[in-house]
Amino acid sequence: MTDATFSIVIDDQEISARPGQTILQAADDAGLYIPRLCAHKDLVPHGSCRVCTVKVNGRPQSACTQPAAAGQVIESETDEIRGVRRAIVDMLFVEGNHLCPFCEKSGDCELQAVAYRLGIAAPKYPFLFPKREVDASHPKIMIDHNRCVLCGRCVRASRDLDGKHVFDFVGRGIDKKVAVNSAAKLADTNIDISDKAVDVCPVGAILRKRVGYVVPVGERTYDHDPIGSKIEAARER
Ligand code: FES
Repeated sequence: MTDATFSIVIDDQEISARPGQTILQAADDAGLYIPRLCAHKDLVPHGSCRVCTVKVNGRPQSACTQPAAAGQVIESETDEIRGVRRAIVDMLFVEGNHLCPFCEKSGDCELQAVAYRLGIAAPKYPFLFPKREVDASHPKIMIDHNRCVLCGRCVRASRDLDGKHVFDFVGRGIDKKVAVNSAAKLADTNIDISDKAVDVCPVGAILRKRVGYVVPVGERTYDHDPIGSKIEAARER
């Protein structure tokens, strides 16, 4: 540890953190994976999904927004915290229409991958089966709102990385959704196929057209490397 770093403890392991880091970032650097959905390494933290919930000195916090601070004692992989994460992910699955076997994103989907990591094999709550729009008006990109988990990655990426504001949230509560910066459809926006906003969707809500099965099922991101395993591999080296 250098003078600029300090110690925090996660699940009885002392790790070093730097000023300005969040708990999630410090954990990643130490090879300790904390599940997340709305967090993305290139985006400012949003703190909306709560999948990264940990207990910090006994109080629940989102690891992606909570700054690391000297002396913190953090619980992450406890039965209680895993139960909280499972409940959140369980609710996300039934709140939308996540039909993994028919989804182009299967195997690359972070929601699916986190669910596997948490041991979720079947839905725990009744499905809501909402009727949501699919906007396939753009020649190269589509949005399926049935799969959107409202993580806000596209909103932040379009605003902060693409400088465009193509996406934003509208509505409240159960009616909240991602809208585009056009009174009509995605085709009428200034989105481009190379926009970062298209890349960062963790689920199959925003997709590029005509490339869905270029990589076969079984050879996708999480088919060989379950989510979190690359971060954890860094610890083992
Ligand atoms: Fe931290 Fe979503 S990943 S709240």
